[in-house]
This record gives sequence, structure tokens and C-alpha cells, in this order.
Amino acid sequence: MTTVETATPADARPSDTGSEWWRTAVIYQIYPRSFSDSSGDGIGDLPGVTAHLDDLQSLGVDAIWLSPFQRSPQKDAGYDVADYCDVDPLFGTLADFDRMLAEAHARSIRIIVDLVPNHSSDQHVWFQEALAAAPGSPERARYMFRDGKGENGEEAPNNWESVFGGPAWTRVTEPDGTAGQWYLHLFDSSQPDFDWSNDEVREEFRRILRFWLDRGVDGFRVDVAHGLVKQEGLPDYTPAADGGSMGGDEAAVPYWGQPGVHDIYRDWHELLAEYDGDRALCAEAWLPTIAKTAMWVRSDEMHQAFNFVFLETKWDAAALRLVIDESLRAYGEVGAPSTWVLSNHDVVRHASRLALTADIPQGFGVGPNTVGKPDTALGLRRARAASALMLALPGSAYVYQGEELGLPEVIELPDEARQDPTWFRTNGEKYGRDGCRVPLPWTAEGPGYGFNDTGASWLPQPAEWASLARDVQQGDPASTLSLYETLLAERRARGLGAGALEWVDGGSADVVSFRNAGVHVLTNLGSTPVDLPAGTVIAASEPLDGRVLPPDTTVWLA
Ligand code: GLC
Repeated sequence: MTTVETATPADARPSDTGSEWWRTAVIYQIYPRSFSDSSGDGIGDLPGVTAHLDDLQSLGVDAIWLSPFQRSPQKDAGYDVADYCDVDPLFGTLADFDRMLAEAHARSIRIIVDLVPNHSSDQHVWFQEALAAAPGSPERARYMFRDGKGENGEEAPNNWESVFGGPAWTRVTEPDGTAGQWYLHLFDSSQPDFDWSNDEVREEFRRILRFWLDRGVDGFRVDVAHGLVKQEGLPDYTPAADGGSMGGDEAAVPYWGQPGVHDIYRDWHELLAEYDGDRALCAEAWLPTIAKTAMWVRSDEMHQAFNFVFLETKWDAAALRLVIDESLRAYGEVGAPSTWVLSNHDVVRHASRLALTADIPQGFGVGPNTVGKPDTALGLRRARAASALMLALPGSAYVYQGEELGLPEVIELPDEARQDPTWFRTNGEKYGRDGCRVPLPWTAEGPGYGFNDTGASWLPQPAEWASLARDVQQGDPASTLSLYETLLAERRARGLGAGALEWVDGGSADVVSFRNAGVHVLTNLGSTPVDLPAGTVIAASEPLDGRVLPPDTTVWLA
């Protein structure tokens, strides 16, 4: 057994420079179509969210981020927006939204909505107008229309590939019936990219921001925040075959992280600052380094950016220490909090990901034929340890619905159930993201495990959902739900979000060990137990047998 000793704390750093709520908040991501379905049609909705706000309050979250519920043909589960200022009838009405917001605020829970500015749906009135208008018209100038190459314009304007697979360009038929121009879509062909060099686009998004701010939302999660501006001349680019689909691994991509995006966020920063209540912007920006991501949260730009480098870090003590250190340094240098995130609706749930035995890049997904499938028990054990580590860090943390139940990725989804455009656009070569989007189990008994009262479900729920249901876990001190409740309550009571991290040296190289706000946190990533240092156990990701910390376990000591 190795012994962990408490050494002199090194380089304490404050995580924040102000008291705004988003610097320390735990933000719970709701994926509305899979959260709770009040209408019984198999797709979750806003009244379903309102019905469970008490559960979220008792879990102890500070805010909710809602994935898109705006009007949409649902070609990419709502990330294809046809009307930015209305609720899709699938999810309810604007009145349902207002009720949900008021009920959340009454419980001191803030609401962040998703904003999708890189592209609209092809059913958006602007895109329909663009199709009906001539090449070179102001209607086409709101999107990225270009003439094709080749004698008759029959070749795409460049070689870019869609994130979901296949070409990033689609050729239109002109109103007179002839084969015409091409439009750019970094995602599905139903998601045409806006042209952000166009002032009309900029003005329209200011209007959309105000629409939701006036309704009282506390902020926005900005979808594909690194994609809005494309490199001048749209040069050819071929991504690495084994890279993550959103560009996180790669430097110098002509459609990701172009310098011009920062002007847009400076403009939005000023607009939000006109409102009271510290409204916030959070960037979904997949960038190759933490240093680059930190540029999105300079003091006059966004307030937060997802820390995807942390999410993608392997289950390895040295790698975790490094990413935590770099995050606190790089974000600290620009006066921003770091965010911490382990799961969301685009990645393999961390209760499965942390036990994969092969590298699977973001966006590929895991399915029946994947090589390197995880061991379920090991995955859950590591997920609980990882979450207990994450929730002890200073800054703001994101929790994806279902991770508080320890839900794994659903790997054995039948082919015919799959709905992610990635699956279709790669002809089944990549499974995509459906496995992390299966509707939540609320009750062990009853139709749809309490997701609704009809049993309809847009993705089939596996039989194991019964034993993971919320009602089974509630009140069971050994459950993952109880663990999250304890971690969130202690985090809040002891001010960990606003604390300063100090590394504790001197123990096993396989143990991540630090102090924050008087709490000593240890995670054992090795394969042998280590002795625990002094201190009262206030939380542990596994039951402890005496004063030892077993493998794949996190403990909080006070
Ligand atoms: C973001 C969303 C993802 C969506 C894509 C296109 O990455 O998180 O779900 O498919 O953008 O909007």
C-alpha cells in the first residue's frame, strides 16, 4: 500500500475575480426531448421540465441549460431552427416556457437557453426566400451560396466535409428548374450556414438575443461558437480521418476558430451587459488547446466556455493534474472561471467512456460492433470518482441529465431506432450520438420508466433502466443520486466553486490530491489502495472500508 502524505500546499490561485453567479454555478443540462414527457407522445416537453423542478432543486443545481426547444423540423434534434423566437409544438408553447422560467426562478434556479447561430434549418423563412431568389440577391447573401467549380458548376466550390459525414455543400435547383448554385452546411444539408459577414444576420441575432433576454432568461449556451466565421476564400481542407468531428484536435481549420468570431461575441457581451442580473454566454467551442479556448472568455467576450479538453482527458492522474493546472492558469489569466464537464448530448456518457478499451473520437459513438466496449461496473465506478473530482474543483461545473443516475451509454440500440444524422450520412459507419440521448428513467415501474404515462419513447429504453430509475435511487445512501446530492450540498455549503486549488504533493503518483476551501480531495486512479491522510470523510464515491482509498475512488476529507 502506498501512503498519501499531506505536504505544504503550493501555488494557491483564486478561481475568480468577482461574485457573478456563473463563476461558481453547477449547471444541469436538460435535453428536453429525453427529460420528461407530459403529453405522452414519446418526446419530452417543457411542462415535463416544470413538473420536475422540485427534483432538480433537491439535487442542488444552480441553473439549467436547455438544449433547443425552438421551432424546428427536428432533422438534428432541434439544432436545426426554423423560428428562433417560438417554441416547437412538440415541446409546448411560449406560455409553457414562461411558466417554466417563472417556476425555476421561484426556486432560485436560473435558465440558460441554447442559441444556434452558425446555421438555421432549411425550413427557416430566410432560407426558403434564398432558394426562391436569384444568385447574387440579398436573400442569398444571408447564407453561404457559391457557384460550383467545373464547366457547368457541377463540382462543389471546395472539398469541405460535413461534421456529420459526406460533403459540406449541396447544389440547389434554381426557380427556373436548372441546376444552380451550392450552399454550405457544416452539418446536415438541412442546416445551411449563415454568412456572418452580413450585417443583416448580425442584426437578426441581436433581435433574437433580446427576445429571450426580455423574457427573462439568464444566458445562452452558444452552439458551434467556433464556427461562425469562415476563412476568406474558403480554401480546401481535409480533416484527419481519426480526428474528433468538431475539430477539437486540429490546429488551423478554415472553418473553426477564425479570429473574426471574437468581434461577434464582443458585440453580444455589450448587449447582455445592458440587462441586469449578470446574464451570461457560454461557448460551445471545440478548440485544440485550453489556451485557445481561454480567448473566448476574455473579459469583454463570453463568460464561460466548455472545457472540452478536460472532458477528453484520459483516466490518468498525471493527465488530470495537467489539464486542471492548465485550465486554472489559462482561464485565470483572462479573469474567467474554468468550467468542468464530463458528459453532454454529443459525447459518449462518461459512465461508459471512462472504461472504453480503445480510442473513440468524439462524434463516432459506440454501438453493437464497436471494438473496445466498456465494462459497465468499472465505467460506473470511474464515473462516480470522476464526478466527485470534478465537483470539487473551483469554477463552474456542468452536469448532463442522467449522469446523476449513473446512466451508461446505451450501446445496443437497434439500427432501425437510430436517428442521429451522423448515422445516416456515414451509412452506419459512425453510430453517432443517440446512445447518450435515451429518455430518462424516473420510476422502476410503469410505462416508459416514468418518462411519460404511455410508454412511447423516441429512442427505446433498455431493460436495465428499471434498476437505475430515480425512485429506486432516492433515499438509498449508496446510490449515485445520493452521491450527487451530497457532493452538490457540500460544494455549496463549503464554497468550493469560489475556492482556490492547492496541490498536495508527496503521495502516490496515481493519486490526484488537492485542497480547495478547506476540503482535501483525493482520487486514486491507480490499481492498489492507498492509506488515507487525516480528516473526516464528508463524501466518498465508493463505500470505504477503514482508512484506505480503494482504486477508482474519490474521497472528500474535512
Ligand atoms: C452542436 C450541438 C450538436 C449539434 C451541432 C449542430 O455541436 O451540440 O448537438 O448537432 O452543434 O448544431
